[in-house]
Amino acid sequence: MTQTLQSQPYAPPPTDSAHRVAALNRNDKPFHVVLAQQFDRTTVDQLCQLADMIRSIGGSRQGNQFLSTLLSHRRAMLYFIQPSTRTFLSFTSACQIVGMRYGEVRDRSTSSEVKGESEDDTIRTFSQYFDLIIVRHPMEGFAEHVATMLNEMSRPIPVFNAGSGKDQHPTQAMLDIYTLYRSFLGPQGTRSEPRYSRNVFAGKTIAFVGDLKRGRTVRSLAYLLCRYPGVRLLFISPPELGIGEDILDYVSRHGIEYELGNDLRKHIGECDAVYMTRLQDEHDVAGESKKIDYYAYSLTYEMAGQFRPSLAIMHPLPRRHELDPRLDALPQAKYWAQVRNGMWMRAALIASVFNVDVAIRDHYQAYYTF
Ligand code: NCD
Repeated sequence: MTQTLQSQPYAPPPTDSAHRVAALNRNDKPFHVVLAQQFDRTTVDQLCQLADMIRSIGGSRQGNQFLSTLLSHRRAMLYFIQPSTRTFLSFTSACQIVGMRYGEVRDRSTSSEVKGESEDDTIRTFSQYFDLIIVRHPMEGFAEHVATMLNEMSRPIPVFNAGSGKDQHPTQAMLDIYTLYRSFLGPQGTRSEPRYSRNVFAGKTIAFVGDLKRGRTVRSLAYLLCRYPGVRLLFISPPELGIGEDILDYVSRHGIEYELGNDLRKHIGECDAVYMTRLQDEHDVAGESKKIDYYAYSLTYEMAGQFRPSLAIMHPLPRRHELDPRLDALPQAKYWAQVRNGMWMRAALIASVFNVDVAIRDHYQAYYTF
């Protein structure tokens, strides 16, 4: 069997990050959704607002019918060659909400890659049938590589990064911000001002816990949180699985206060949000993380007495033992809401990239405001 597999990470283009972002954006907003750094504060806030509007409109049969006509002339391709439950299903649900049909490849052994076709040609093929390509891939930099390649095609179409190796997972970060916002604002927020514009993150302590070296969701969310001055970040991890220097550099350059730690128990009482993660041992080279005692990076039922009443417990899921299922019943547990929020946020991202966000806002203004 011939297989052309890329075994090295795709190196970022040899330009600075401003140029990388510019190559992914059109008219100053994301066209490809590849890096969390593409999203400025206004864009994040507007997308949270749009996700709320889609959620409200989608609550009625008529509203659903309206949404499902918006992109019924467009098709998405999901190329997911890494395991996925939530990201895959929330993207397919998001496509259904805005009326987009979709195709999928979830296993390379079913594509012509086994006949020796390159992955690049596989993607070029998708671009001839579809209007959007959503990729999840084990290699760092893959989505950015696809975006660069698609920019050169005669029919450029957007690519969404649904997780690329250990580096980024920007749509997860967007749904995480949306969930944190909703949690800090409370269910109703304030009616007297636009719901997502006040910096509710200022003065809040957000702890990232676990395998921060290889957890792409943490890396993307750390980038996004830098849009909110006054937030304080705590990175709690085993010493060998610490957050990357590139992230710490970015955080410092943006004037965000941070602290490194290695025992969650010491810090839990000061947290406004705690972002738990599992051990990413699929990236082990020789089972090295088996030696790590992950107990200090676990949230147990016994710790609940130390939680602030307004704490937001987050997890991108899947979880293992680092998050006790008995915590699910607490009001502080936000991870199941996080799953559902992902569907609305991804629908908002698709709507925005395909410029139907204005139609959604108009519909909302006409029918859902008093
Ligand atoms: C995460 C991922 O794949 O990076 N899951 C997800 O997309 N919600 C987290 C993980 O696998 O640990």
